[in-house]
Amino acid sequence: MKKWIKKSWLVAMGLVMVLSIGLAGCGKNNDTSLKKIKDSGTLVVGTSADYAPFEFPIVKNGKKQITGYDILIAQQIAKDMGVKLKVQNTEFSSLISDLKGNKVDLVISGMTDTPAREKQVAFSKSYYTVNNYLLVRKADANKYNTKADTKNAQIGAQQASTQEDIAKAQTSGNVVTEGLVTSLTTELQSGKLNGVVVESEIADNYVKNYPDKYAKAKIKLTTPKTDQHLSVAGRKGDKKLMKQVNKTITKLQKNGQMTKLLQKAQDIQAKYGTAK
Ligand code: ARG
Repeated sequence: MKKWIKKSWLVAMGLVMVLSIGLAGCGKNNDTSLKKIKDSGTLVVGTSADYAPFEFPIVKNGKKQITGYDILIAQQIAKDMGVKLKVQNTEFSSLISDLKGNKVDLVISGMTDTPAREKQVAFSKSYYTVNNYLLVRKADANKYNTKADTKNAQIGAQQASTQEDIAKAQTSGNVVTEGLVTSLTTELQSGKLNGVVVESEIADNYVKNYPDKYAKAKIKLTTPKTDQHLSVAGRKGDKKLMKQVNKTITKLQKNGQMTKLLQKAQDIQAKYGTAK
């Protein structure tokens, strides 16, 4: 009899173990991130549309819309999922909390995959590599050649961006932050700021589109390795969604579309300009 009790205990324990392993496995399958979006039919992406050619507003057929390199990538991600894309425009500094607060499914906003952000959100594989410049007024093109030249200068950087860190560490100026890059460049033209730290593609975009107004200063800014890679951000638990995002990025990189989409964004900007 005693032996029999012992045996059934063992069997019971075994059952509990099998069950709990099974349940733990279910935990993994609880990731409904991808299914939820497919069921709803819409992928919601957060961005800060102050960043041509990556994201900027245009007026097309009398209607305002957000477009740009990141948005074209987002459209491909949505298309591969078989859903529509909805772009939600907000200031850059709010994007991570919007993502964590489930207001958006993904953030695609020229966002750098930094170690500090990795503590809060997950990142896709990188789709673009950047470095940084000090954008100045054309008339000041030769004024800021070294760090010492920025002493007493008013240096702008976007709030909560990697540019804020770079401006603080690598210039001797007074660093002023604003929510929007477009506010910073307006203040640069009005004389309130002497320079704005921006990423290469953005600096080039201003110089190309307004050659009489902007120039890249000669001061060399170093972009730390951790600040170089732009990626799509998602919630940490949304593993299936991120897997899908990476699938699209890999596809676009392999078939050459990834570089073509940047050109396409620049063509759109040339055709429609940027709206307010
Ligand atoms: N790459 C920089 C960062 O992640 C700046 C991104 C700014 N993006 C924007 N849409 N304004 O901090």
